[in-house]
Amino acid sequence: MITWKNLSRKKVFSGESTTGVVAQGPAAAEHVLRRSLGTLDLTSLGVAAIIGAGIFSTIGNAAAAGGPAIVFLFLFTAVACGFSALCYAEFASAIPVAGSAYTYAYASFGELVAWIIGWDLIVEYAIGNIAVAISWSQYFTSLLASYGIFFPQFLTIDMMSASKGYQQISSLLAQGQSLAEITASGLHTQGLRFYELWLQAPRIGGVPLVCDLPALLITVLITAIVFVGIEESRRTSNFLVAIKLAAVALVIIVGASYVSPANWQPFAPHGISGVLQGVSGVFFAYIGFDALSTTAEECRDPQRDLPRGMLYALLICTVLYILVALVLTGMVPYYKLGVGDPLSYVFGPEGANLPWLEGVINVSAVVALATVLLVFQTGQPRIWMVMSRDGLLPPIFARIHPRFKTPWFATLVTGVVVAIPTLFMSLTEVTDLSSIGTLFAFSLVSGGLLKLEMDGTKLNSRFKITYINAKYIFPLLLLACLLGVLYLNPQALVNFFSLVDPQHPEAGLGYVLGEKIPLSLYLGLMLGLAVLCFRNNLSLVPVLALSSCTYLMTELGTTNWLRFGLWLLVGMAIYFLYGHKHSRLGEEQSRSSLARS
Ligand code: ALA
Repeated sequence: MITWKNLSRKKVFSGESTTGVVAQGPAAAEHVLRRSLGTLDLTSLGVAAIIGAGIFSTIGNAAAAGGPAIVFLFLFTAVACGFSALCYAEFASAIPVAGSAYTYAYASFGELVAWIIGWDLIVEYAIGNIAVAISWSQYFTSLLASYGIFFPQFLTIDMMSASKGYQQISSLLAQGQSLAEITASGLHTQGLRFYELWLQAPRIGGVPLVCDLPALLITVLITAIVFVGIEESRRTSNFLVAIKLAAVALVIIVGASYVSPANWQPFAPHGISGVLQGVSGVFFAYIGFDALSTTAEECRDPQRDLPRGMLYALLICTVLYILVALVLTGMVPYYKLGVGDPLSYVFGPEGANLPWLEGVINVSAVVALATVLLVFQTGQPRIWMVMSRDGLLPPIFARIHPRFKTPWFATLVTGVVVAIPTLFMSLTEVTDLSSIGTLFAFSLVSGGLLKLEMDGTKLNSRFKITYINAKYIFPLLLLACLLGVLYLNPQALVNFFSLVDPQHPEAGLGYVLGEKIPLSLYLGLMLGLAVLCFRNNLSLVPVLALSSCTYLMTELGTTNWLRFGLWLLVGMAIYFLYGHKHSRLGEEQSRSSLARS
């Protein structure tokens, strides 16, 4: 049985697996990364990972649905991420190994949960990067267009969106509407564009050639930078982050003088439900601070610098996001913000009408999104590297390039896994999936700290979360929240026991699957957590991290849950077909059973 004691006694560092098995001989040299990162580099990498498609793209739809009150969602999400960051920081300080949440889950729950989380992290890193590459492509092609350079349109759209648009318009035509009528209605501008693209695109064997080529090209370029080495990635990243921060600051400073407080009225036009529609987009904006933990084996002093880097980066981004959200919703009426490029839109003809600034923002979005790609494209191979050392993936995933000192094979596979789907997947689908996967990882990391606490296992960590006893505080907080909900919405109790959505009675089974089941599970989890807090005097911060992240998960919708469930099932199948048989833990167990027999 692998226990935390094994891990701490072995001082898990580079060249060792999570299970404490040390690579020896020539193989060891092939498993050692170069240590070059300090606090400033890590904070910069954190900002590089966090500020991206979320603030440049997905904030638009979130603000259009929730109005200026979206600021509260940014605040709540920042608090949830802050609690999670503290949990990550404590683990990262105790286990400075590149596997991030995978490693922490191994330490707290064992191999199976570790595999689940490792598999889940693909959703955060690789799938998340698909979203970022798609968004990058949109900004890049608009930027080129502003200089009169036009990419063939059928090479700038993903297959999924184009095919959806084609089907939507085809079905309207089949219902008897003419193209002229559909155009005149003004309701299907995007769909019509995709319909025309689909028809005009060249065909290969009858299939239209529609793909997002710039997204593929940027992924290939970033993969090449990451392949060459962390030193080069770091230099590139520090430079790009400086440009990105300056541009966001410019948006806030210049935008502030165009704010008209009348746009903040009404503050929450569609109430709490409108605000909560933005959960996926807003949470996506915060993803990234945790990616720092994957550079643990490349930090000069990981136990001191990793917690600092994560918390500083999160703090900087939270302040910027809240200011950007206030400025955007103050500059134009909230309902106009449902566009893919809200930051440049508010400086366009329908907003402040400052073409020079619109251009600056387009450039900075291209830069900002490239830095996000860089960090996640660096993180994913390092997680696979650690999983491979543990035997859960084939050994080649842990091979380090003799000259560049990077996990070269895992880096190439990441490049392929991200690049190919960028050609045909759509932005919203990948953003939603990435958000649910990351929230799941955050929940398991905070749950892992609580599990270790209940087992009486002490982490040998230089960064410690201040202990506040949750014994009474959490149950009272839970009671206050429940009473608060009932006070604000006395119908809530009746609605809870009803199987019909009061606003959309036609939703039927979808309502039960998408709302009732997650909410009931959540309430059950919270009651159980309150009992555990009372019995075990649990530490308040991980309890709050777990309760806030799982709450955000309940808001992510049925389709998303089903897709995520399917993803985890595929992961389980792979584990039982490969990882379970090849893991070092499995080897140790079979060795000890052989010794016994
Ligand atoms: N937080 C990152 C972004 O918004 C993933 O692009």
